[in-house]
Amino acid sequence: MLKGCATAPAKTILLGEHFVVYGEPAIVTAIDRKAKVTAQESPGTSIHITSDLGCGTFEGADFKTSDSCRKVRRILEPIRISTQSVLDYLKLKRGLDVNVESVIPVGVGLGSSSAISVATVAAVGRLFDGRLSTSDIFSLALDAEKFVHGNPSGIDQQVSAFGGILLYRKGGTSTRLQCPVELPLVIGNTGESRTTGRLVESVRQRHERLPNIMNQLIKVAGGLVEEGAAALKKGDLQRFAELMDINHGLLVSAGVSTEALDRLAHAAKAAGALGAKLTGAGGGGCIVAMSEPGEQSKVAEGIKRAGGEPIIVEKADTGVQSWLEK
Ligand code: MEV
Repeated sequence: MLKGCATAPAKTILLGEHFVVYGEPAIVTAIDRKAKVTAQESPGTSIHITSDLGCGTFEGADFKTSDSCRKVRRILEPIRISTQSVLDYLKLKRGLDVNVESVIPVGVGLGSSSAISVATVAAVGRLFDGRLSTSDIFSLALDAEKFVHGNPSGIDQQVSAFGGILLYRKGGTSTRLQCPVELPLVIGNTGESRTTGRLVESVRQRHERLPNIMNQLIKVAGGLVEEGAAALKKGDLQRFAELMDINHGLLVSAGVSTEALDRLAHAAKAAGALGAKLTGAGGGGCIVAMSEPGEQSKVAEGIKRAGGEPIIVEKADTGVQSWLEK
């Protein structure tokens, strides 16, 4: 029996997270860690999902699992929504076995759930149709993110679908940025997982309490991103990294950093990084540091000594890819 297969990359936001939700641009790169999804037709109309995160079967509003984890339904729901959104889009009623394999750390700001949604949409689309454009895949995967948090900018799905380094604006428009040099990036994982929705909501509440102050931070963030895009185009990593440091300060002011994130950002810089900031929603999760070219292992050592898990990553130029397998 034919299987629709797809892979989609993780991401790290280099400048502008949170503020992107309020309409400012952000810079994000796809990285060389992927989720892989396969989809195969099965009898009936249920959607059966197997993954490292848990297993279960959705039949209409019912959910059955033999998994002992109480959160399994919540974890699998975005995969079901992604699958269902393609079936609805293609006006099909089918049963499916969906299998997810991912090497992307979960719940730490590297876009694991978006990569899984994008790959799911592409795998199911390929199985039944094969003509979904990358923009279609982005839009359908965004539906699942709306379950994860109510007000997504779409940045994670966009970069996972298209790959490369993107200058992104909410609403789904992005420009690919060409950087003439490699980006020597090192991620530092605090190991503390968190929920994006809660952090986006906490920023919304601060914005509601202090609109004048928050609007100024948002504007400064937009300025940082414009300067950052110009620095990247010239390959000026030093200048870009300085903007990352300032961006970390803005995210501290927005209330989404933690003691562990600050510690890892400082440790990365003490070990020679040009700049470092939290990446993604914050509240735990990861920092991203820009090292000097060829010095990533020194920065990684510094992050490790400070109690983080270092991950040396490379930019991924390719976004989602799909194919059929027998
Ligand atoms: C999460 O990776 C990025 C946030 O800006 C949320 C969003 O853009 O939807 C925190």
